[in-house]
Amino acid sequence: MTRKKVFVTGGAGFIGGNFVQYMVNKYPRYDIYNLDLLTYAGDLTKHRDIETKDNYHFIKADIADREAIVPLFEKEKFDYVVHFAAESHVDRSITDPGIFVRANVLGTQVLLDAAKHVCIDKFVHVSTDEVYGELDFDPTTFFTEETSLQPNSPYSASKASSDLLVRAYHETYGLPINITRCSNNYGPYHFPEKLIPLTISRVLNNQKVPVYGDGKNIRDWLHVIDHCAAIDLVLHEGVSGEVYNVGGHNERTNLEVVRTIINTLNKSQDLIKFVGDRLGHDKRYAIDPTKLEKLGWRPTYTFDTGIEQTIQWYLDNKEWWEQIISGEYQSYFEKQYSV
Ligand code: NAD
Ligand code: TYD
Repeated sequence: MTRKKVFVTGGAGFIGGNFVQYMVNKYPRYDIYNLDLLTYAGDLTKHRDIETKDNYHFIKADIADREAIVPLFEKEKFDYVVHFAAESHVDRSITDPGIFVRANVLGTQVLLDAAKHVCIDKFVHVSTDEVYGELDFDPTTFFTEETSLQPNSPYSASKASSDLLVRAYHETYGLPINITRCSNNYGPYHFPEKLIPLTISRVLNNQKVPVYGDGKNIRDWLHVIDHCAAIDLVLHEGVSGEVYNVGGHNERTNLEVVRTIINTLNKSQDLIKFVGDRLGHDKRYAIDPTKLEKLGWRPTYTFDTGIEQTIQWYLDNKEWWEQIISGEYQSYFEKQYSV
């Protein structure tokens, strides 16, 4: 196998972190460069097992810092870019949209310029199904790659904007790109501000779980390792210029998700606390993954097997999430949920 330099952004976060480990272990002859600003969502303790490996390299920098990014590309001449780095939490985007525009839109544009400058072989932009907006509750409707972009939150609007820039660099300059649009991920190292790890950590601490509105909003859940495998496939086999949706048909209402976690942990359903709804709360997301399946991808987890593995992981790795929720996260939680 030819030696390749793979530049991964956001590899200290949840999905990027899982992807870095997947790539370092699967491709010993690839050099994996993890660039991350280490915002509140990034941490390197998750990489203790790989940090001494010869094919793993870490760089602390801001993707929106052109003075840092362009010279790095000139020096290292990366073959592949896999771009995860982003502000990723919808609730934070409702409170402060500006940081989302800077990181997600400007940051992506700086990376595209750098990638174009050194003629990389492939730029995979990791996006989200949230750019399509919301579906109604008709279970026969799905997001396809042809669905129009109608983002509703500042987060999804910033991701849709970055998707359009990636597309434009392909159309205008011929940059070899793919865009992946995945449904909600869950699994190890998911930051405990998002629904599933927030629920697991709070239930384990016998604390109330805030459920927005009536809890009937639907998300389509995919285990993070299945997402990593999809990105690996698209990186190597994806047709340049194409968008690929990623999802495994695991639709659940938020209430079903929370109840499953509480039942698995043998705790009381009284821990559920209905709170005011999220502004602009999208009703339902659901992916049609046919195009990616034709490329050869199949998920390995069902929701039932994945949530069980994930709950066990949070039980086995308490020190990781306890150290997060004991820090500045507490003031975030108090402000967000007015407690
Ligand atoms: P995350 O918030 O856990 O991690 C984001 C990482 O990016 C962090 O390590 C952070 O330090 C880093 N980062 C943020 N701003 C940066 C900057 N300016 N420069 C360099 N690094 C920066 O996010 P995640 O859940 O792992 O999501 C990763 C990507 O996948 C995002 O682009 C997101 O839009 C997309 N995505 C997420 C989901 C999901 O369910 N979490 C689903 C589909 C797509
Ligand atoms: P989240 O994990 O923030 O992902 P996204 O907004 O990107 O889908 O939220 C998943 C669903 O759970 C969403 O419908 C909002 C809901 N939710 C709650 O009900 N309570 C919470 O405390 C959080 C964080 C989310």
